[in-house]
Amino acid sequence: MLTYQGVSPLLDHYNRPRNVGSLPKSDPNVGTGLVGAPACGDVMKLQIRVDPQTNEIVEVKFKTFGCGSAIASSSYLTEMVKGMNIDEAARIKNTEIAKELCLPPVKLHCSMLAEDAIKSAVKDYQSKSKRAVPTIGEAA
Ligand code: FES
Ligand code: FES
Repeated sequence: MLTYQGVSPLLDHYNRPRNVGSLPKSDPNVGTGLVGAPACGDVMKLQIRVDPQTNEIVEVKFKTFGCGSAIASSSYLTEMVKGMNIDEAARIKNTEIAKELCLPPVKLHCSMLAEDAIKSAVKDYQSKSKRAVPTIGEAA
C-alpha cells in the first residue's frame, strides 16, 4: 500500500480531498455526472472538462454528500482521471479505487459511486459534444 508521509491514502484523501468544487454546467466542454448509491442514499457530483481536440480530461471537480470512503474515493478518482482520455476514464473499475484505498467489503459501494460518477460524466460530455458538432448530413 502506498502511503503519503505515513498516512494511509484513505485518511489522506478524506482529510485533504483534492479537486473539490464545481465547473460551469453550461460550458459545452464540461460533462457532469450526478449519481446516488442505492445502498445508503449518498450522492456524488463529478465534473470533467475535456479538451475537444484530444479528448483528454484537463480539469476535474467533485462534490460528495456522503461518507468518508465516498469522499476519499472521489478525491482519489479525480487525481486518477486528470490527463486521461475519456474512453480510458470510462473504463475505470471501482475495484482499482477500493484496492488503492484499502476499502473493506462493506465500503465497496462507496467506490462504486465514483465509478458510476465518472461514467456518467463522460456520457454527459459525449451527448453534449454530439449536439454541439452536428455530423454531416444531419438535419439542422
Ligand atoms: Fe450514510 Fe454513507 S451510509 S454516509
Ligand atoms: Fe454509502 Fe459510503 S457511499 S456508505
